[in-house]
Amino acid sequence: MTGFSARVEQVSISGIREVFEAAGEDAINLGLGQPDFPTPEHAREAAREAIAGGKADAYTSNKGTRSLREAIAEKYARDSDLDIDPENVIATAGGSEALHIALEAHVDIGQQVLIPDPGFVSYDALTRLAGGQPCPVALRDDLTLDPAAVEAALTGETAAFVVNSPANPTGAVQSVEDMREFARIADEHDVLCLSDEVYEHIVFEGEYRSPAEFAESDNVAVVGACSKTYSMTGWRLGWVTASHERIERMLRVHQYAQACAAAPSQYAAEAALSGPQDAVEEMVAAFEQRRDVLLDGLADIGLRCPTPEGAFYAMPEVPEGWVDEVIDRGVVVVPGEAFGDAGAGYARISYAVDIETLKEALEAMDAATAAVR
Ligand SMILES: Cc1ncc(COP(=O)(O)O)c(C=O)c1O
Repeated sequence: MTGFSARVEQVSISGIREVFEAAGEDAINLGLGQPDFPTPEHAREAAREAIAGGKADAYTSNKGTRSLREAIAEKYARDSDLDIDPENVIATAGGSEALHIALEAHVDIGQQVLIPDPGFVSYDALTRLAGGQPCPVALRDDLTLDPAAVEAALTGETAAFVVNSPANPTGAVQSVEDMREFARIADEHDVLCLSDEVYEHIVFEGEYRSPAEFAESDNVAVVGACSKTYSMTGWRLGWVTASHERIERMLRVHQYAQACAAAPSQYAAEAALSGPQDAVEEMVAAFEQRRDVLLDGLADIGLRCPTPEGAFYAMPEVPEGWVDEVIDRGVVVVPGEAFGDAGAGYARISYAVDIETLKEALEAMDAATAAVR
């Protein structure tokens, strides 16, 4: 009988799903990784027009339509003062595919990829699927990734290190100094920095900067997406940008696995990126307000929680048995260990819900805390 590849056998379905299944149907779900806002109307309209006009029936160029890649390059010029050639952009099926093709193109069998711990679940799984070895790097107490820890963990076998800011599951935002350091490490050690920037616009404090702004070599690859910024998770539209040589290698994987990103989504994404940005500002303001409600609530309960400066997650330290008690009270949160061994003793709370719901969930958390203390 045909068996299964050793690579796929190393990967299991994300622990997050198990938590959803454990919760009842009426549960308040603070486990979701997507904004609870509609996709901006002008993005939907652009897809409708493309479909009605017959523009979305055929394959696009493998890298995506030229006009979408120009809109992505324009975004980087506007937000980060980066000069990106639209030829060095591949539109992908979400940030997920961008991470996948980046790791496939750069990681050899047995090579190491340094990943934040706790960190987004895909880094570990996609590294394994590429035949590589994930090497978790524990975060600082404030849940940011320490460039010195990354530098100390590099070996001759390191193919890449992943930086994710603002981060899932922590909501942490790396400082500009850290980003400068990550760029220096990529330059000096001649190793790829894979910068996952899918939450780049959801920042409340500080300033968002990409390591790509500081690198002097071509060793930074940047992953972005419309998913979180424009509440377009269902559209599956992301991208990766890097040097010509790197893009050319990633395109080999993308071409055979995907051919091109879905054409209607490409039109929607182009409109989202180049149209009015007020929907993003409104969403970020709403997230900030909710974050404050959540942080106040957690402080009242007596749970320590580093202040998340971006994304829509908070990661408090929680007592033993807390997550189960909270889930038993009808609120879904994800145990920190779903994101790596160093996540043990924490829980991820997504606040992509309205304030009333959040307050109700905080009551359940209060009761759960009293029950386990
Ligand atoms: C840090 C991070 N990177 C990438 C992704 C993938 O996003 P997409 O929906 O665009 O594939 C996610 C989704 O949760 C994420 O949290």
